[in-house]
Amino acid sequence: MDETTLNLDVISRQLLARIRGLHGAGVDWLPKEAPLPVVESTPIVATSESLPADSSFDIVEQPQSEAALSLEERLAALQALAVEVKGCTRCAELCRSRTQTVFADGPPGAEVCFLGEAPGADEDASGTPFVGAAGQLLNRILAACGFRRDEVYICNVVKCRPPGNRTPLADEADNCRAFLVKQLELAAPKYIVALGGCAATNLLQTTLSIGKLRGRFHDYKGIPVVVTYHPAYLLPHKHPEKKGDVWNDMKMLLEKMGRPIPVRSG
Ligand code: URA
Ligand code: URA
Repeated sequence: MDETTLNLDVISRQLLARIRGLHGAGVDWLPKEAPLPVVESTPIVATSESLPADSSFDIVEQPQSEAALSLEERLAALQALAVEVKGCTRCAELCRSRTQTVFADGPPGAEVCFLGEAPGADEDASGTPFVGAAGQLLNRILAACGFRRDEVYICNVVKCRPPGNRTPLADEADNCRAFLVKQLELAAPKYIVALGGCAATNLLQTTLSIGKLRGRFHDYKGIPVVVTYHPAYLLPHKHPEKKGDVWNDMKMLLEKMGRPIPVRSG
């Protein structure tokens, strides 16, 4: 083996290890050309020792406005945030029972973010949000809207699977909120779709039901939010008759985005 072959072999092994490491940290999207910049991240999670017991923990102010970050810098900061999430132990029960944390799927800078509740069994096993039965239905909703799955940003209120897929407790959503807030700031979607009651309640900090929230736009830090039913709620054994409502909500979104409304095939 000559020296060039040897070097290439070493480099490709190092690259592979790096990519596996990134994947393990929840990064499964990389920019096409630009190399990943190294960005110093500010840890946003205070340790429990440094927090008064009843404190809802606040985000540490960033030295630089997120609006000024390039896409590559956002990606690197999201990557750092995913690593923090991976090490999070704030919810004693969830961090014991999870296989892994589930951070997001999709690129920063995506025009639309779809926000779910928490990972289920399939997501806990794969590390990717919305890959199980509800995920398959979400994929069909995206396709019906004319979105490619890889052009939207998908994440959840809570990053760990609650045992037995129960709805996350208010405490668990609160523990994860700083991650969500930071994640949305960095991913910077222009529109958010809150899927189901958990997403709507926690994102908008409201107690109103989906029925009361549907059909109009809400506001999250200047970002228009559509609230609609969770895809799991539309599954055949639940309420498939609500699919028409979800389609109406999606049409409202597409119209505001100035996108064509595809003719629904079924
Ligand atoms: N349900 C959710 O809310 N999120 C997922 O990632 C999967 C199912
Ligand atoms: N309640 C929820 O929490 N989500 C739905 O999608 C419907 C009812």
